[in-house]
Amino acid sequence: MKKLSVKGQQSSSKIYVGERLFNLTDYIPEKKVLIITDDKITSLYGELLPDFPIICLEQGESFKTIDSVKDVIAKLLELGVDRSWFIVAIGGGIICDLVGFVASIYMRGLRFGFVSTTLLSQVDASVGGKNGVNFDGYKNILGVFNQPEFVICDTVLLDTLSDDDILCGLAEIIKHALIADEEMFSLLENEKDDVLFLDNKIIEKLVYKSVKIKAKIVNEDEREHGKRKLLNFGHTIGHAIEKVYGLPHGQAVAIGMKYAVILSVNKGYLNASVADRIYKLINSYGYPEVEIDKDKLLSALLKDKKKDGDNLYFIYLKDIGVPLISKVAISEFKEDINELFKHSV
Ligand SMILES: NC(=O)c1ccc[n+]([C@@H]2O[C@H](COP(=O)([O-])OP(=O)(O)OC[C@H]3O[C@@H](n4cnc5c(N)ncnc54)[C@H](O)[C@@H]3O)[C@@H](O)[C@H]2O)c1
Ligand SMILES: [Zn+2]
Repeated sequence: MKKLSVKGQQSSSKIYVGERLFNLTDYIPEKKVLIITDDKITSLYGELLPDFPIICLEQGESFKTIDSVKDVIAKLLELGVDRSWFIVAIGGGIICDLVGFVASIYMRGLRFGFVSTTLLSQVDASVGGKNGVNFDGYKNILGVFNQPEFVICDTVLLDTLSDDDILCGLAEIIKHALIADEEMFSLLENEKDDVLFLDNKIIEKLVYKSVKIKAKIVNEDEREHGKRKLLNFGHTIGHAIEKVYGLPHGQAVAIGMKYAVILSVNKGYLNASVADRIYKLINSYGYPEVEIDKDKLLSALLKDKKKDGDNLYFIYLKDIGVPLISKVAISEFKEDINELFKHSV
């Protein structure tokens, strides 16, 4: 088991990679504890959960809403939860995001921690202190920055994940390697079969390296004024594709990264042979190919909530592990996308 820290403005997290769910009680400082999880986790791992009151929510992005927040708050009131209680979220990104938000606003904030049970949530969602829910079709538009006291990343739990959920998490792992760590990229190339087989030793290594990269960035820029934007690599286009084609997030990000790589070559930042290496790696992990319509993509891109007036921040690559944040005029970006679609992607 390895430990990492994230320090936010108001709170900090200790992240335990390779710790196990059955040791959860070692990390809970309070006597009054409430667990919030989803029905998939209770059906798979119910017998590993300690004997505390449990709120069990339905699964899925459609439940990551303000209505679910209201339902949970009603249950907290019913159970008589006050500020002396400690809340533990056990689940993927949806449960962690929602519970972190509820714990941050209920009675102006309760102490809380996460047991992160999906690959995506271990390497991304539960690290960095962004908690929130969707509203009216806008993802994560309501939320707070607040670090959980602890995050337990139990990599053994990943064995029961669906292939799609594994690919989702792997896309963020590939992203972390591309923006920060060439050696990790080589590991993904050389150990692909063991990674896809979820060999625990290699997965634990990749989760640790990912958390370390994200934690370092968040420690320098929790509120995303600068360096944290690097984590959006592949996401500007990925989010647009996710919205238009309803693809799982990681699959859309995998395509978004490929586009970002081509844009980087076209801008003269990245060598074509390095782009080819990145392309091969992403394709070798089995992300499905999708035919993208340029006009639909452009119209979704221009609605991006992270747009900054007439500009957007785009993350390019200069090399593997060497990213570049650039403020690009929307008009220029449109031309770049048009150019990109002139050649096959
Ligand atoms: N806060 C952040 O910084 C941040 C970053 C990235 C993504 N996110 C959010 O994360 C969410 C997606 O997270 P996710 O991909 O973990 O989805 P999820 O929480 O919906 O989990 C995916 C599915 O896997 C099931 N599951 C969870 N653990 C399992 C296990 N060990 N075995 C089998 N099944 C299991 C869940 O019940 C669910 O059906 C999105 O809402 C996204 O906005 C947040
Ligand atoms: Zn992502």
